[in-house]
Amino acid sequence: MPSNKDDGGWKKFVWNSEKGELLGRTGGSWFKILLFYVIFYGCLAGIFIGTIQALLLTLSNYKPTWQDRVAPPGLTHTPRSDKAEVAFNLNDVETYLPYTKALRDFLAKYDDDNQRDQMKYEDCGDEPAEYKNRGDLESDVGIRKACRFSRSLLGPCSGIEDNEFGFRNGKPCLIVKLNRIVNFRPRPPTSNGSIPEEAQPKVQPNVIPIYCTNKREEDAGKIGEIKYYGIGGGFPLQYYPYYGKLLHPQYLQPLVALHFTNLTMNTELRIECKVFGDNIDYSEKDRYQGRFDIKITISSL
Ligand SMILES: *[C@@H]1O[C@H](CO)[C@@H](O)[C@H](O)[C@H]1NC(C)=O
Ligand SMILES: *[C@@H]1O[C@H](CO)[C@@H](O)[C@H](O)[C@H]1NC(C)=O
Repeated sequence: MPSNKDDGGWKKFVWNSEKGELLGRTGGSWFKILLFYVIFYGCLAGIFIGTIQALLLTLSNYKPTWQDRVAPPGLTHTPRSDKAEVAFNLNDVETYLPYTKALRDFLAKYDDDNQRDQMKYEDCGDEPAEYKNRGDLESDVGIRKACRFSRSLLGPCSGIEDNEFGFRNGKPCLIVKLNRIVNFRPRPPTSNGSIPEEAQPKVQPNVIPIYCTNKREEDAGKIGEIKYYGIGGGFPLQYYPYYGKLLHPQYLQPLVALHFTNLTMNTELRIECKVFGDNIDYSEKDRYQGRFDIKITISSL
Protein backbone atom coordinates (compact mmCIF):
# COMPACT_ATOMS: atom_id res chain seq x y z
CA MET A 1 0.00 0.00 0.00
CA PRO A 2 1.26 3.50 -0.89
CA SER A 3 0.80 4.94 2.60
CA ASN A 4 2.80 2.13 4.20
CA LYS A 5 5.51 2.62 1.64
CA ASP A 6 5.69 6.38 2.46
CA ASP A 7 5.90 5.71 6.18
CA GLY A 8 8.69 3.28 5.54
CA GLY A 9 10.57 5.94 3.52
CA TRP A 10 10.35 8.46 6.36
CA LYS A 11 11.35 6.06 9.05
CA LYS A 12 14.24 4.94 6.95
CA PHE A 13 15.34 8.54 6.49
CA VAL A 14 15.17 9.33 10.20
CA TRP A 15 16.99 6.20 11.24
CA ASN A 16 18.55 3.95 8.58
CA SER A 17 19.59 0.88 10.51
CA GLU A 18 21.28 -0.74 7.50
CA LYS A 19 23.79 2.07 6.98
CA GLY A 20 23.68 3.36 10.61
CA GLU A 21 22.59 6.80 9.40
CA LEU A 22 20.57 9.36 11.41
CA LEU A 23 18.79 11.89 9.17
CA GLY A 24 20.98 10.87 6.28
CA ARG A 25 24.34 11.12 8.07
CA THR A 26 26.47 8.76 10.02
CA GLY A 27 27.51 9.49 13.59
CA GLY A 28 31.02 10.40 12.48
CA SER A 29 29.72 12.83 9.92
CA TRP A 30 27.44 14.48 12.53
CA PHE A 31 30.36 14.77 14.91
CA LYS A 32 32.49 16.53 12.27
CA ILE A 33 29.71 18.96 11.46
CA LEU A 34 29.16 19.75 15.11
CA LEU A 35 32.87 20.24 15.67
CA PHE A 36 33.05 22.57 12.69
CA TYR A 37 30.28 24.81 14.00
CA VAL A 38 31.65 24.89 17.54
CA ILE A 39 35.01 26.10 16.21
CA PHE A 40 33.37 28.46 13.72
CA TYR A 41 31.17 30.23 16.28
CA GLY A 42 33.95 30.13 18.83
CA CYS A 43 36.16 32.10 16.46
CA LEU A 44 33.37 34.58 15.70
CA ALA A 45 32.81 35.20 19.40
CA GLY A 46 36.56 35.57 19.88
CA ILE A 47 36.85 38.21 17.17
CA PHE A 48 33.85 40.03 18.60
CA ILE A 49 35.17 40.11 22.17
CA GLY A 50 38.66 40.92 20.94
CA THR A 51 37.60 44.01 19.01
CA ILE A 52 35.51 45.30 21.90
CA GLN A 53 38.42 44.79 24.30
CA ALA A 54 40.76 46.57 21.92
CA LEU A 55 38.35 49.49 21.70
CA LEU A 56 37.94 49.67 25.48
CA LEU A 57 41.73 49.82 25.85
CA THR A 58 41.77 53.02 23.83
CA LEU A 59 39.17 54.68 26.10
CA SER A 60 40.12 56.63 29.17
CA ASN A 61 38.19 56.30 32.41
CA TYR A 62 38.50 59.99 32.96
CA LYS A 63 38.43 61.75 29.66
CA PRO A 64 35.59 61.54 27.15
CA THR A 65 36.96 60.46 23.77
CA TRP A 66 34.39 62.32 21.71
CA GLN A 67 33.39 65.66 23.07
CA ASP A 68 32.96 67.79 19.99
CA ARG A 69 29.18 67.71 20.10
CA VAL A 70 28.64 68.72 23.71
CA ALA A 71 30.93 71.67 24.20
CA PRO A 72 28.33 74.45 24.39
CA PRO A 73 26.80 73.99 27.81
CA GLY A 74 23.12 73.81 28.58
CA LEU A 75 21.64 76.42 30.86
CA THR A 76 19.02 74.98 33.16
CA HIS A 77 16.88 76.36 35.90
CA THR A 78 14.99 75.29 38.98
CA PRO A 79 12.05 75.12 39.33
CA ARG A 80 11.46 73.72 35.91
CA SER A 81 8.27 72.37 34.40
CA ASP A 82 7.62 70.49 31.21
CA LYS A 83 5.95 73.46 29.60
CA ALA A 84 8.74 75.84 30.64
CA GLU A 85 6.13 77.71 32.59
CA VAL A 86 5.88 79.01 36.12
CA ALA A 87 2.30 79.98 36.92
CA PHE A 88 0.87 80.50 40.36
CA ASN A 89 -1.63 82.41 42.40
CA LEU A 90 -0.44 84.54 45.29
CA ASN A 91 -3.50 83.66 47.31
CA ASP A 92 -3.18 79.91 46.94
CA VAL A 93 -0.17 78.24 48.52
CA GLU A 94 -0.94 75.00 46.69
CA THR A 95 -0.24 76.61 43.34
CA TYR A 96 3.35 77.49 44.20
CA LEU A 97 4.18 74.69 46.60
CA PRO A 98 5.64 72.49 43.82
CA TYR A 99 8.02 75.30 42.86
CA THR A 100 9.21 76.11 46.35
CA LYS A 101 9.59 72.41 47.11
CA ALA A 102 11.72 71.93 43.98
CA LEU A 103 13.93 74.81 45.10
CA ARG A 104 14.29 73.45 48.64
CA ASP A 105 15.16 69.98 47.34
CA PHE A 106 17.64 71.32 44.84
CA LEU A 107 19.43 73.56 47.33
CA ALA A 108 19.68 70.84 49.97
CA LYS A 109 22.81 69.61 48.11
CA TYR A 110 24.37 73.00 48.79
CA ASP A 111 23.86 73.01 52.54
CA ASP A 112 26.98 74.14 54.37
CA ASP A 113 26.80 70.99 56.47
CA ASN A 114 27.51 68.87 53.40
CA GLN A 115 30.61 70.87 52.55
CA ARG A 116 32.53 70.72 55.82
CA ASP A 117 34.95 67.90 54.95
CA GLN A 118 38.37 69.56 54.51
CA MET A 119 39.62 66.63 52.47
CA LYS A 120 36.91 67.04 49.88
CA TYR A 121 36.17 70.76 49.78
CA GLU A 122 38.12 73.95 49.73
CA ASP A 123 37.29 77.62 49.67
CA CYS A 124 37.79 79.24 46.31
CA GLY A 125 36.79 82.78 47.23
CA ASP A 126 33.62 84.79 46.93
CA GLU A 127 34.90 86.87 44.04
CA PRO A 128 35.38 85.64 40.48
CA ALA A 129 38.88 84.24 39.96
CA GLU A 130 40.94 82.33 37.38
CA TYR A 131 40.34 78.70 36.41
CA LYS A 132 41.39 76.35 39.18
CA ASN A 133 43.79 73.85 37.70
CA ARG A 134 43.86 70.58 39.58
CA GLY A 135 46.23 68.67 37.34
CA ASP A 136 45.72 66.70 34.16
CA LEU A 137 42.73 64.45 33.77
CA GLU A 138 45.10 61.54 33.21
CA SER A 139 47.53 62.28 36.03
CA ASP A 140 47.73 60.16 39.18
CA VAL A 141 46.62 62.84 41.60
CA GLY A 142 43.36 60.99 42.13
CA ILE A 143 40.24 62.56 43.57
CA ARG A 144 40.22 66.36 43.29
CA LYS A 145 38.80 68.76 45.80
CA ALA A 146 35.69 70.73 44.99
CA CYS A 147 35.09 74.40 45.58
CA ARG A 148 32.55 75.16 48.24
CA PHE A 149 29.48 77.05 47.20
CA SER A 150 27.53 78.45 50.06
CA ARG A 151 23.79 78.96 49.81
CA SER A 152 24.17 82.28 51.56
CA LEU A 153 25.68 83.67 48.33
CA LEU A 154 22.18 83.55 46.88
CA GLY A 155 20.91 86.29 49.20
CA PRO A 156 17.14 86.43 49.47
CA CYS A 157 16.96 83.41 47.14
CA SER A 158 19.06 81.20 49.42
CA GLY A 159 16.01 79.81 51.18
CA ILE A 160 17.71 80.45 54.51
CA GLU A 161 15.48 83.28 55.64
CA ASP A 162 12.58 82.88 53.26
CA ASN A 163 11.89 79.26 52.56
CA GLU A 164 9.22 80.23 50.06
CA PHE A 165 11.77 81.98 47.84
CA GLY A 166 9.68 85.12 47.37
CA PHE A 167 6.76 83.30 45.76
CA ARG A 168 4.37 84.38 48.47
CA ASN A 169 5.05 88.07 47.73
CA GLY A 170 5.01 87.73 43.97
CA LYS A 171 8.80 88.14 43.79
CA PRO A 172 9.86 84.65 42.80
CA CYS A 173 13.42 83.34 42.54
CA LEU A 174 14.82 81.04 39.90
CA ILE A 175 18.09 79.22 40.41
CA VAL A 176 20.21 78.75 37.31
CA LYS A 177 23.19 76.55 36.58
CA LEU A 178 25.34 75.64 33.63
CA ASN A 179 25.36 71.92 32.97
CA ARG A 180 28.62 70.21 33.77
CA ILE A 181 30.94 69.26 30.96
CA VAL A 182 34.13 67.37 31.71
CA ASN A 183 37.25 69.46 31.07
CA PHE A 184 35.31 72.40 29.71
CA ARG A 185 36.58 75.91 30.39
CA PRO A 186 33.94 78.48 29.55
CA ARG A 187 35.61 81.62 28.21
CA PRO A 188 34.20 85.04 29.11
CA PRO A 189 33.38 87.37 26.22
CA THR A 190 36.44 89.18 24.86
CA SER A 191 34.44 92.00 23.33
CA ASN A 192 31.19 93.76 23.99
CA GLY A 193 30.15 93.45 20.38
CA SER A 194 27.53 90.72 20.50
CA ILE A 195 26.17 91.56 23.91
CA PRO A 196 23.01 93.59 24.51
CA GLU A 197 23.83 97.03 25.78
CA GLU A 198 22.15 96.63 29.17
CA ALA A 199 24.22 93.48 29.80
CA GLN A 200 27.57 95.04 28.97
CA PRO A 201 28.32 96.29 32.49
CA LYS A 202 28.14 92.64 33.56
CA VAL A 203 31.13 91.76 31.40
CA GLN A 204 34.09 91.35 33.74
CA PRO A 205 37.16 89.17 33.77
CA ASN A 206 36.75 85.68 35.26
CA VAL A 207 33.00 85.42 35.12
CA ILE A 208 30.49 84.17 32.58
CA PRO A 209 27.74 86.78 32.68
CA ILE A 210 24.07 85.90 32.55
CA TYR A 211 21.41 88.34 31.49
CA CYS A 212 17.65 88.02 31.33
CA THR A 213 15.17 90.20 29.53
CA ASN A 214 11.77 90.14 27.93
CA LYS A 215 11.53 87.71 25.04
CA ARG A 216 8.68 89.50 23.31
CA GLU A 217 8.52 93.13 22.32
CA GLU A 218 5.12 93.52 23.98
CA ASP A 219 6.49 92.59 27.41
CA ALA A 220 8.96 95.47 27.41
CA GLY A 221 8.72 97.37 30.68
CA LYS A 222 6.65 94.66 32.36
CA ILE A 223 9.48 92.54 33.70
CA GLY A 224 10.73 95.06 36.24
CA GLU A 225 14.04 94.75 37.97
CA ILE A 226 15.81 91.40 38.02
CA LYS A 227 18.49 90.97 40.68
CA TYR A 228 21.29 88.50 40.19
CA TYR A 229 22.88 86.69 43.12
CA GLY A 230 25.87 84.43 43.16
CA ILE A 231 29.57 85.06 42.69
CA GLY A 232 29.97 88.13 40.48
CA GLY A 233 26.33 87.73 39.40
CA GLY A 234 27.36 85.00 36.98
CA PHE A 235 29.36 81.80 36.69
CA PRO A 236 32.86 82.34 38.10
CA LEU A 237 35.78 80.61 36.43
CA GLN A 238 37.38 79.15 39.57
CA TYR A 239 34.73 76.41 39.47
CA TYR A 240 36.12 75.16 36.16
CA PRO A 241 37.22 72.80 34.81
CA TYR A 242 35.14 69.94 36.11
CA TYR A 243 37.07 66.66 36.24
CA GLY A 244 34.19 64.25 35.84
CA LYS A 245 32.28 61.94 38.13
CA LEU A 246 35.19 59.70 39.07
CA LEU A 247 37.77 62.36 39.87
CA HIS A 248 35.45 65.08 41.08
CA PRO A 249 32.63 63.34 42.90
CA GLN A 250 31.88 66.24 45.27
CA TYR A 251 31.85 68.91 42.56
CA LEU A 252 29.28 71.63 43.01
CA GLN A 253 28.28 73.80 40.11
CA PRO A 254 28.28 77.52 40.84
CA LEU A 255 24.74 78.87 40.95
CA VAL A 256 23.10 82.11 40.01
CA ALA A 257 19.82 83.15 41.58
CA LEU A 258 17.50 85.39 39.61
CA HIS A 259 15.20 87.45 41.76
CA PHE A 260 12.28 88.94 39.86
CA THR A 261 11.39 91.83 42.11
CA ASN A 262 8.76 93.72 40.17
CA LEU A 263 6.99 91.47 37.70
CA THR A 264 3.70 92.69 36.31
CA MET A 265 0.88 90.57 37.73
CA ASN A 266 -2.00 88.88 35.97
CA THR A 267 -0.32 88.69 32.65
CA GLU A 268 1.80 86.07 30.95
CA LEU A 269 5.39 87.24 30.63
CA ARG A 270 8.03 85.57 28.53
CA ILE A 271 11.54 85.99 29.81
CA GLU A 272 14.71 84.88 28.11
CA CYS A 273 17.99 84.34 29.92
CA LYS A 274 21.31 83.96 28.16
CA VAL A 275 24.90 83.41 29.16
CA PHE A 276 27.66 85.05 27.16
CA GLY A 277 31.08 83.74 26.37
CA ASP A 278 33.53 83.22 23.55
CA ASN A 279 32.91 79.47 23.45
CA ILE A 280 29.23 79.56 24.28
CA ASP A 281 26.86 79.14 21.36
CA TYR A 282 23.14 79.04 20.93
CA SER A 283 21.17 76.62 18.86
CA GLU A 284 17.84 76.87 17.10
CA LYS A 285 17.14 73.24 17.88
CA ASP A 286 18.19 73.09 21.52
CA ARG A 287 16.35 75.66 23.56
CA TYR A 288 18.56 75.10 26.61
CA GLN A 289 21.91 75.59 24.91
CA GLY A 290 23.44 78.69 26.47
CA ARG A 291 19.98 80.14 27.02
CA PHE A 292 16.46 79.35 28.06
CA ASP A 293 13.15 81.05 28.05
CA ILE A 294 10.37 80.74 30.51
CA LYS A 295 6.80 81.92 30.87
CA ILE A 296 5.88 83.43 34.19
CA THR A 297 2.32 84.21 35.16
CA ILE A 298 1.50 85.50 38.61
CA SER A 299 -2.17 85.84 39.48
CA SER A 300 -3.10 88.06 42.36
CA LEU A 301 -6.88 87.86 42.01
C1 LIG B 1 32.16 96.06 28.16
O1 LIG B 1 31.43 97.18 28.60
C2 LIG B 1 31.50 97.42 30.01
C3 LIG B 1 30.65 98.62 30.32
O2 LIG B 1 30.06 99.19 29.23
C4 LIG B 1 32.93 97.66 30.44
O3 LIG B 1 32.99 97.79 31.85
C5 LIG B 1 33.75 96.46 30.03
O4 LIG B 1 35.10 96.67 30.34
C6 LIG B 1 33.60 96.19 28.54
N1 LIG B 1 34.31 94.95 28.25
C7 LIG B 1 35.01 94.76 27.16
C8 LIG B 1 35.69 93.46 27.03
O5 LIG B 1 35.08 95.58 26.28
C1 LIG C 1 7.65 98.42 39.45
O1 LIG C 1 7.25 98.53 38.11
C2 LIG C 1 6.33 99.58 37.86
C3 LIG C 1 5.98 99.56 36.38
O2 LIG C 1 5.60 98.29 35.96
C4 LIG C 1 6.91 100.91 38.26
O3 LIG C 1 5.94 101.94 38.09
C5 LIG C 1 7.37 100.87 39.70
O4 LIG C 1 8.03 102.08 40.03
C6 LIG C 1 8.30 99.70 39.92
N1 LIG C 1 8.62 99.58 41.32
C7 LIG C 1 9.88 99.51 41.74
C8 LIG C 1 10.06 99.38 43.21
O5 LIG C 1 10.84 99.56 40.98
